[in-house]
Amino acid sequence: MRYGYFDNQNREYVIERPDIPVSWTNYLGVKDLCTVISHNAGGYSFYKSAEHRRITRFRQNGVPLDRPGHYVYLRDDDSEDYWSVSWQPVGKNLNQAVYHCHHGLSYSRFICDYNDIYAEQRLFIPVNEDVELWDLRLKNNGSKVRQLSIFPYLEFSFHHVEMDNQNLQMSFYATGADYQEGIIEYDLYYEPEEYYYFASSFRPDSYDTVREKFLGNYRTESNPRAVERGECHNSVELGGNHCACLHKRLNLSPGEETRLIFMLGAGRREAGKKIKEKYSQAAKVDRAFLNLREYWEGKLAAFQCRTPHQGLDTMLNTWNLYQAETCVNWSRFASFIEVGGRTGLGYRDTAQDVMAVSHSNPEMSRQRLLELLRGLTSQGYGIHLFEPEWFDPEEKKKGKFKSPTVVPERKPDNIVHGLEEACSDDALWLVPAVCDYIKESGELEFFDEMVSYADGGQATVYEHLKRILDFSAEQLGPNGICKGLRADWNDCLNLGGGESALVSFLHHHALLVFIEAAAYLGREGDVGQYRKLAREVKRVCEEKLWDGSWYLRGITARGKKIGSQENKEGRLHLESNTWAVISGVASEERARLCLDAIYKHLYSTYGLHLLWPAYSEVDDNIGFVTRVYQGIKENGAIFSHPNPWAWIAECKMGRGKRAMKYYNALLPFNQNDRIEIRQAEPYSYCQFVMGRDHSAFGRARHPWLTGTAGWAYTAVSRWILGIRLNFDGLIIDPCIPADWPGFEVTRCWRGATFRIIVKNPDGVEKGVREVILDGKQIELPVPPQKKGSEHEVVVIMGTRP
Ligand code: NOJ
Repeated sequence: MRYGYFDNQNREYVIERPDIPVSWTNYLGVKDLCTVISHNAGGYSFYKSAEHRRITRFRQNGVPLDRPGHYVYLRDDDSEDYWSVSWQPVGKNLNQAVYHCHHGLSYSRFICDYNDIYAEQRLFIPVNEDVELWDLRLKNNGSKVRQLSIFPYLEFSFHHVEMDNQNLQMSFYATGADYQEGIIEYDLYYEPEEYYYFASSFRPDSYDTVREKFLGNYRTESNPRAVERGECHNSVELGGNHCACLHKRLNLSPGEETRLIFMLGAGRREAGKKIKEKYSQAAKVDRAFLNLREYWEGKLAAFQCRTPHQGLDTMLNTWNLYQAETCVNWSRFASFIEVGGRTGLGYRDTAQDVMAVSHSNPEMSRQRLLELLRGLTSQGYGIHLFEPEWFDPEEKKKGKFKSPTVVPERKPDNIVHGLEEACSDDALWLVPAVCDYIKESGELEFFDEMVSYADGGQATVYEHLKRILDFSAEQLGPNGICKGLRADWNDCLNLGGGESALVSFLHHHALLVFIEAAAYLGREGDVGQYRKLAREVKRVCEEKLWDGSWYLRGITARGKKIGSQENKEGRLHLESNTWAVISGVASEERARLCLDAIYKHLYSTYGLHLLWPAYSEVDDNIGFVTRVYQGIKENGAIFSHPNPWAWIAECKMGRGKRAMKYYNALLPFNQNDRIEIRQAEPYSYCQFVMGRDHSAFGRARHPWLTGTAGWAYTAVSRWILGIRLNFDGLIIDPCIPADWPGFEVTRCWRGATFRIIVKNPDGVEKGVREVILDGKQIELPVPPQKKGSEHEVVVIMGTRP
């Protein structure tokens, strides 16, 4: 069953049936103001932090689904019939009304055709302004003059997620709203910065700011009293629950069209006035929308492909990068799954996320890297979850306003946690992330930039990376494998002093990446020292972790193997075996064996399971994973994030057909017509898909904010299509199915544009026979070219003579 389709021309996903079993969401805003919005216009906005600076309210996991939202009601003032431009909240009979939703890049359009009135509500946030615009178009397609009333509606939130859900004795009396000169201003009385406004391009006929007045008692957003009676109450009040509605009456003659703009912004009425003046001009709205489109086109242009695989092109060229960028912007805590209960940056997640976007968002990558570097302790482990401002020297200088309620101030010693809270993998991801950024930007000086440590002192970026490598070298268990500590990549594998194979493999990987950098910088002493260490790590891994047909996942503190053929449950794990190969630890023979075991035991048509067989017996020496239902999340679901690791590992082994088979299994695009099983958005990777041990096998959960986005993007662009970088050149090393005749990629790198044409005349899966740059044969890598120049690179796959 399908609910919509991909419109590649417009880079939109078009939902033709709004009665989807779950909400399909989109993200508006690319800087500080953000709205998470569903295909039924349910959702919420916040400014900078979904925890502290909430603007509109959201009743998560509620009944009915995903209320309230950013709604526009229409009312026929003759018949008194009313409906909403998005299908919900009024929920007109779908046999009588046509409802579509187009999710685009940082905008959503809700379209409704009902009773001869065509209506479209387009929501977006201009690139450089803290305002959400609601661009409403109406057309009378009938033969009668229509008298209509328009009611845009939103519900304000108390500013802090906790205050919004508890301690109402304070919050109820600390917010107020009023109306002047067509603008509703909402104010958190004791926080001098917390003001929001709602304005429109017209002079309202009536308004409401008190929720209970607008909705009426014992009613919901489905049947608000104000809409039913055709007029608001002009309500204002200090204290209580607030909303914003600006009502407008208008007549539409047959064939007549009109356009109304609404503006929800961060700031005081004065800011609202300026915005009202500006965006009351439709041309300015159009310009802002065009800027937003250009913003995304600019990013996407850094890598575009044309391959024989329609789904791959659709995802890679648009949705996959869009999702990856969204993760970098909002980390993990602003969605319908996490609604701001936590905030800040997860160390490992952020380090992995930035790797994927260094080409499309170098500024943000750099900023995030600095934040992570500042969140590193001098011992070499990262603060697992932190607010960048805690360690930002500029923020520290600012005097902070003391709110009478909320959060006790954080002191350095309660934000810099000890080893017992440290995750063994967190900072290891930062080593390749920093190097990727430098390969992309060419900013070698970044290695020598001075950055503070979370617990005091400072050193160069390069030195930070060494501390990370040294930390893992010191934190070894009895077998010489890295300790698991609180957790490794798998939040639910809690080994403490037990050992994690994955972390030793990651350590080896980070060492190789660092050695490449040190060699490039000519720091021979470090090259020698870390080469020696890498050899030792490899030796221990090969000696202690090989289990006959695959690699172990770890060893508990009591010395029991995890991920071994001798186990009854959790015999084979995906993460350790993929990283054994990616990290270069596994010999060719062992790499083949363990990857074949993955295929045999973990593969399904929906993707690769995280482990097999799922745990049914609790074992706290292994961790929380044994307390999760079988087939869900870390306990034997198809956990999406490590799936691309298997694609990369297969590409390293030259097996393009199998990499593509895995890719196709997980690809959301391929599930477009199976929504009765998948349920979730077909344009977004999800955190996990229920595994074969669960009755809902194939159901995808937790869209958008997952490390899968970045890794899927990286795996396809750098390993399947094979276009990646070293410090001084572009490498083109595809690994594709043999029946692909070739493909093309446009890649921008350091200001030059490369049109890469890959031909596969011999039908191979891997191997490059010849490279021709602008008509001349060259050896890889392709060197950097002059800024602004354009080049053609023809790559002939095949075996070298
Ligand atoms: C989601 C977390 O955000 C991520 O950090 C972790 O690696 C995965 N779950 C696996 O446990």
